Amino acid sequence: MSELSVVERLYFGRDDAERDLADGLLRRGFKETAAYNAVVTGRKTLVIGRKGVGKSAICVRLASEPVPAGGVELVTAADIAGEELRAFELTGLPGDHAKSLLWRYVFAVRAAQYLVGHAEQHGGKPPEAVKALKAFIKANRELFGDPRTSIGFGRWLQGLSGALSLEAFGVRAAVDFAQQAVAMEGDARPAQRLRVLEDGVRLGFTELGCAPAHTFVLLVDQLEQLWSADLESNSLVIGLLLATWYIGSHYGGAVRCTVFLRSDIYDSLTFTEGDKFRSDELRIDWTESDLEDLALRRARASVGSGLTADRLWGEIFPRTVCGQSTLTYLLSHVLPRPRDLIQYLNECQYTAIGNGNRDRIHESDVQLATQRFSQWKLKDLVQEYLVAHPFLERLIPLFQNSGYLVTRAALSHRVDLVVDALHHEFPAYTGSLTPDGIVKTLYEVGFLGVRRGNGIVYVGIPLLPVQPHEDEFHLHPCFREALGATSPTGLDLYDRRVAISIRAQVVSGDVLNFAPHATWAGREHRLLERLARACRSILGHLVHADTVPEEVRNEIRTQVRHILDAADRAHSAEASVDEEQMVLEAATYFHTIAARLRRDGLEGDAGADSLAAGLTAQSTRLVRAVGGGLGSSGEA
Ligand SMILES: Nc1ncnc2c1ncn2[C@@H]1O[C@H](COP(=O)(O)OP(=O)(O)O)[C@@H](O)[C@H]1O
Ligand SMILES: [Mg+2]
Repeated sequence: MSELSVVERLYFGRDDAERDLADGLLRRGFKETAAYNAVVTGRKTLVIGRKGVGKSAICVRLASEPVPAGGVELVTAADIAGEELRAFELTGLPGDHAKSLLWRYVFAVRAAQYLVGHAEQHGGKPPEAVKALKAFIKANRELFGDPRTSIGFGRWLQGLSGALSLEAFGVRAAVDFAQQAVAMEGDARPAQRLRVLEDGVRLGFTELGCAPAHTFVLLVDQLEQLWSADLESNSLVIGLLLATWYIGSHYGGAVRCTVFLRSDIYDSLTFTEGDKFRSDELRIDWTESDLEDLALRRARASVGSGLTADRLWGEIFPRTVCGQSTLTYLLSHVLPRPRDLIQYLNECQYTAIGNGNRDRIHESDVQLATQRFSQWKLKDLVQEYLVAHPFLERLIPLFQNSGYLVTRAALSHRVDLVVDALHHEFPAYTGSLTPDGIVKTLYEVGFLGVRRGNGIVYVGIPLLPVQPHEDEFHLHPCFREALGATSPTGLDLYDRRVAISIRAQVVSGDVLNFAPHATWAGREHRLLERLARACRSILGHLVHADTVPEEVRNEIRTQVRHILDAADRAHSAEASVDEEQMVLEAATYFHTIAARLRRDGLEGDAGADSLAAGLTAQSTRLVRAVGGGLGSSGEA
């Protein structure tokens, strides 16, 4: 068998942390980011980030390679049996506070189990408090199962409905959490009993003298799988946060809980104690250089540790794509999170192999992969926010087949066309389904960026919301291919038609039948000259039209130059065209741009000397010259 080529070996890994770890790539290709360090040291205990930003990666990494001394326990949705949770909810514990008792109970039992095992590592005779914990776990074995196996949350919930024995702590009465919970308000008994257990655990840590050298870390991840934007799931998450906060102080630093939460979930929560968590919050943010490093690490893990950045981005990948350095191009086409980059890079590799390019990835492979990736991302965006913004899917078509540059006025115009249908379909969201509300949402999900100063800012951390005076927005490059919005204004119609019609005639051989001298002497000659003059006048106007966004000016300039070229070519008899039609098409094109500039408010307050006014004037003159309008000569 022949050896695999470098492109065949290249692999950037799985796009979810759980399987990525199983494949070994997360282990070899893990990047210790600032976020990771903040979690390891316990400086931050509430990790917030979008899908695919690397929350689970930190989690599974910590769980698989525990920080020296101490223990790490992962609590995930998989442990939290949904069915039992629902069943439990039916029988009681309403409210955030009650849900926090539930989580505290889970943490206390896990900590007790950990402590009993951990005491053996300390060696010697276990202190009294640890013996009590051992007895407690033994007495409740039916509820908790074997402490050495990982125990499902569901089992524990069942335990809550049964009797929890606290005799080991010198308390005789059995506790029935669930029964008492029904009548909980004002009844402090379940909370008191929980405290008996918690005090027992705390004493165990104190007598063993664990903290701060040995910390027991609980990691809670994948809550999104339980969340459905209703009061019940909000309570569950808020309860978790309250419990986290509680144990942070209760166990004297011996137990710590770090929660990994999707930002859309966290941002949707409203609760009075919210401000308690500000200093614990960490929002995961990826810089371009971090992502670049991540890509290289992963490529090395598959191709070989000697791989250099220069080889990866110059020999394996093409050096440039669409005139940009490949890395710049790729990074500008992803939302800044590892999952997207991994998917995109793998797709480039996959496309190259599909195209038979085994030794190097070609520019065309990257371009094709970009298209496919863009389509995925559009679907994923809708999916990601299905719960938080279910109307997103309906908004996307507003951006199809038009330019990627959208003004507030243009957006309002488009929203007006669909707003009634949207309100009808999503009555609960009418408040956010206004032009301003839509801009806000589309910015926050990363679909639109906003013009700030000389650049376009896409959503980032810290989040500075769109300001009322900001009114130029750009579709994120990641979605442009899928939406057919790869030019700023989408006003390139003229170019295509003319180019196609000229080429068609050249190909069909019509050029050969062309008798230039017969035509040029007359009216056609003058028409083309007039068209060329109109183009030059507009090009001149463009130089001063500095209230029009630069991208738009560039695009119009390019198009007008094409028209000018076409006119010149027709003049020099390179191609046969219908001059009248050509002039009329150009006039229509100028008219369309002028209308767009006005409608979308692309020109600010340029007044009588505006580019739009100039375009309209040129358009009118050309139509007249052909013989439309008043039939005058067309000269002013
Ligand atoms: N620090 C990192 N180093 C290497 N790979 C990472 C890192 N963070 C995330 N990844 C990778 O990015 C992908 C998405 O991360 P994941 O943790 O599953 O996202 P989340 O849980 O936030 O949705 C996974 O393939 C994961 O292995
Ligand atoms: Mg995850």
